Amino acid sequence: MFSLWPLRVELCAGQGKALRSPRYVHPSCGSGCEQHTAVTPSASLHSPRTRCLKCSVEEMIELGLPDGSLIDELIVLTSQSLGQLEIQEHFNIIKEIGRGKYGKVLLVTHRFKGTPMALKVMPKTSTKLQGFLREYCISLHLSCHPCIVGLFGIAFQSSEHYCFAQELVIGRDLFAVIQPKVGIPELAAKRCAVQIASALEFIHSRGLVHRDVKPENILLLDHDCCQVKLADFGLAQKRGTLISFITGTLPYMAPELCKVALLEGQKEVTAPPLSVEPSLDTWAFGVLIFCILTGYFPWERCTDSDDCYQEFADWSSVGEDGNTEQDNPQLWNKFTPDAMELFRKLLAVDAEKRCAEGTVREYVMKAWLKKKNGMEQQTTAEKDKE
Ligand SMILES: Nc1ncnc2c1ncn2[C@@H]1O[C@H](COP(=O)(O)OP(=O)(O)O)[C@@H](O)[C@H]1O
Ligand SMILES: [Mg+2]
Repeated sequence: MFSLWPLRVELCAGQGKALRSPRYVHPSCGSGCEQHTAVTPSASLHSPRTRCLKCSVEEMIELGLPDGSLIDELIVLTSQSLGQLEIQEHFNIIKEIGRGKYGKVLLVTHRFKGTPMALKVMPKTSTKLQGFLREYCISLHLSCHPCIVGLFGIAFQSSEHYCFAQELVIGRDLFAVIQPKVGIPELAAKRCAVQIASALEFIHSRGLVHRDVKPENILLLDHDCCQVKLADFGLAQKRGTLISFITGTLPYMAPELCKVALLEGQKEVTAPPLSVEPSLDTWAFGVLIFCILTGYFPWERCTDSDDCYQEFADWSSVGEDGNTEQDNPQLWNKFTPDAMELFRKLLAVDAEKRCAEGTVREYVMKAWLKKKNGMEQQTTAEKDKE
């Protein structure tokens, strides 16, 4: 068994708004746009001659292109107007509030306006400009969704860093509230799952794939997961992008992704390049639900050499009709048959057969965890019948 704690996991790749807030609260436009007013002129993205970035984003949303193609245009626009400024000249740094593999996140206030923000800061020494622009533009493009972290439309470079400003999410991240070997309460897990499913559906409808769904990248506005937001688009890509290899694996990675992983001692990958598809996020989402309900990872990686994964894959291959409850893989014994049915759909080993995240909504009224005495919990529907 792999206890979640204290293992925050990072991928080595080869390569508070209200839930129903208005579509855009961030003032991304500068003086060039008649429609929108700049609230933070010092860090405005636009000169009067450049095209208004906010309008471009809104245009994309209106067009709703499902192939993500307008992201490329947004990247070009942003690179043309990326300002140069030193962080401390424009922001008061209060403290560091988070750190990941690629950067750190600072709690800052705007020097003139006092607005608190979460500033994602990435060292130039380890960050390619193109990668930074892609993360920023994809985040901006998606930030209008209530379950995705908001952006202010402020991006700039200092002498040593690339930076962009995000809405400050005051709570902790989901990883921090998972009790090791226990998880979080079922109701909180369901609230979280429904919101993340909605965020992923939105991302996928825009022709993009997040590729790093995990508790560390889910920010909480409150301890009970009433409002959560998906963050960190550092690995996000357009659907259909080809990956020839990755280095290292994570428990959240789908089996088809693990096939293109260069493991220790390996020099090359034999599998053909993998197309980035929404089903990669669906798998990670299924693993995430397991993690938050148990406080464990279900396996270390989805490869033949991992017994826990193999046990699950064998169970899954027998099919719905062939399995009795007693056949459940050992680690999965605390789940009800309904929850196992959901896992079977989200974690279909064959990516083509994997369901969409929205399927989770069909299961939220059903019990996911067995009661302590071994009986499954009564569903709300059953209670209503009595
Ligand atoms: N907008 C935010 N508000 C508050 N905390 C944040 C915010 N964004 C990120 N964090 C914290 O910072 C950590 C690292 O941020 P993240 O964007 O995931 O960086 P990386 O790409 O390096 O993983 C997150 O796990 C979270 O704890
Ligand atoms: Mg992260």
